[in-house]
Amino acid sequence: MCGIFAYSGPNKKAGDIIISGLKKLEYRGYDSWGVAYCKDDKVDLMKKVGKIGEFNVKENPLPESTLAIGHSRWATHGGVTEANAHPHTDSEEKIAIVHNGIIENYRELKKELIEKGYEFKSETDTETIVHLLSDFCKTNDFITAAKLTLQKLKGRYAVLAIKCDEQKIVAARRGSPLIVGVGEKEYFVASDIPAFLEHTRKVMYIDDNEMVVVNDKPHFYELDTGKEVDKRVVEIDWEPESAEKGDFEHFMIKEIMEQKDTIYRAINQKDDEILRLAEEIKGAFGTTLIGCGTAAKVCHAASYIFSKVAKRHVNVVVGSEFPSYKDFLKEKSLVIAVSQSGETADTLEALEVAKEKGAKVLSIINVEGSTMDRMSDYAIHIKAGPEKAVASTKATTSQLAILTLLAYACNDELVEGKRLLIEAAGMINDMLNPRYEEHIQTLAEKIKDFESMYVIGKAVNYPMALEAAIKLQEVSYIHAEGFAGGELKHGPIALISEGTPCIALVANDETRTDVINNATEVKARGGYIIGVSPENDDIFDYWIKVPDGGNASPIINIIPVQLLAYKLAVLRQNNPDMPRNLAKSVTVK
Ligand code: F6R
Repeated sequence: MCGIFAYSGPNKKAGDIIISGLKKLEYRGYDSWGVAYCKDDKVDLMKKVGKIGEFNVKENPLPESTLAIGHSRWATHGGVTEANAHPHTDSEEKIAIVHNGIIENYRELKKELIEKGYEFKSETDTETIVHLLSDFCKTNDFITAAKLTLQKLKGRYAVLAIKCDEQKIVAARRGSPLIVGVGEKEYFVASDIPAFLEHTRKVMYIDDNEMVVVNDKPHFYELDTGKEVDKRVVEIDWEPESAEKGDFEHFMIKEIMEQKDTIYRAINQKDDEILRLAEEIKGAFGTTLIGCGTAAKVCHAASYIFSKVAKRHVNVVVGSEFPSYKDFLKEKSLVIAVSQSGETADTLEALEVAKEKGAKVLSIINVEGSTMDRMSDYAIHIKAGPEKAVASTKATTSQLAILTLLAYACNDELVEGKRLLIEAAGMINDMLNPRYEEHIQTLAEKIKDFESMYVIGKAVNYPMALEAAIKLQEVSYIHAEGFAGGELKHGPIALISEGTPCIALVANDETRTDVINNATEVKARGGYIIGVSPENDDIFDYWIKVPDGGNASPIINIIPVQLLAYKLAVLRQNNPDMPRNLAKSVTVK
């Protein structure tokens, strides 16, 4: 949620570097954007409403500068206007600030500042920070003033500030992501690595409750004590192209297609590590899977997989609800967090609660070095590479693959689990061909004008029906809902009218007959049945054939629905990479 980025170094195109970095962070927020750069000892600003992707920096280069910050916004406080877009400046225009997160006590702080005579130009919580900093600068040097300011802020945030007369960047994080990129005598600070990946693969991680000051080089301090901390430079193995669209029209379709490879990458883990973690699960007094949105659906699906494969019960709670369940946690409890970004605020808060109760935490995450990665006792990286489309696709199936592997490992069948997933990866490779895409395009054209659709499944395909519905909602904006097939007759079947599309996720197992019967009930009320199934059936009005992946069926079944959601989004002229109202990486509660 919100992308922030800073540059300091010898390159005089600091402003242009920020714009190109913000374009890579746009998936984090895209309702407005802005850049602040130093012109001598003063800040100059450029702010716009809309998507930064539409701004042509070649035609409109920014004036020369060697120090700049920028922001791509997902509005929290105040509407989408130029005034509310970041950066925000102090009244002398020497300091500029960008911020990701929420300052919970901004109202009190703002009141005090107004009483002192500060004038606010925006409705944001962020503007409070810049005036507070400027106030502390009256009696302190910039770094001390920054420490004092940050100590007064409550909430989760990542903040970047520049002071032009001192040519310094100050950055700090408390619960929202922020990473330093280390180039040749130049430094970057960003919410996420893709912002500076074209410049450097060397990074330094800022931990929570730390502040970094960049002038000659980065100096790290603990926020609460002010003590300086040593940091290592780490080289990450992402290729710059992995964060680019390449020949694809959108990131979403690129990431769907990448699933030919990402399942292999996910399961390419050290066997002894997976076996060790399986022992942790077996030894725990209760295991709870937590995640938000799509990751929560993955957790829900995994509970079926653990039951079937490992004959083991695992609990599932959505991240935002988990704190209310904390009373059953013990020191021997295990909490498994599933997250693409490793930065989702609700999941992070759940993990903090788990840790307070002494429970052990295992994270299954994509972004290495993320907050979840660093706060967990154990972590498995799914190695899907940057996922930039807001709707999760490749991370989802990789998370499912890892959890399936763990379930097999819990049943002392790691080899069998790997074999199943390798075969599934091969099947996905065969399935994702141009003819398949065309078949789904044809379906999308048939149903694109409906305003409601439903997805049903049973057993592990029930959470996949819920996930299918999220995918359709997010990018096509069609009202979509997922149900356990058996539940329809208890209420939702009243929603079916003539022609309503209903996707049935049908596995080739003991659940097949039931789901076909549920689909038949829908058809009897006029529903248009789209069967996602290895076998055809008379009841299907449209059949999307999927390979029979056995216990890997949830991984395979979701892929055609991801493709359908993408095709519907494009046909309905939505931008599938940046759906309205949403942002990748939800770092606010
Ligand atoms: C939906 C989607 C979201 C995320 C959720 C959690 O396509 O991507 O529902 O799954 O916001 O995000 P992570 O996985 O980063 O914790």
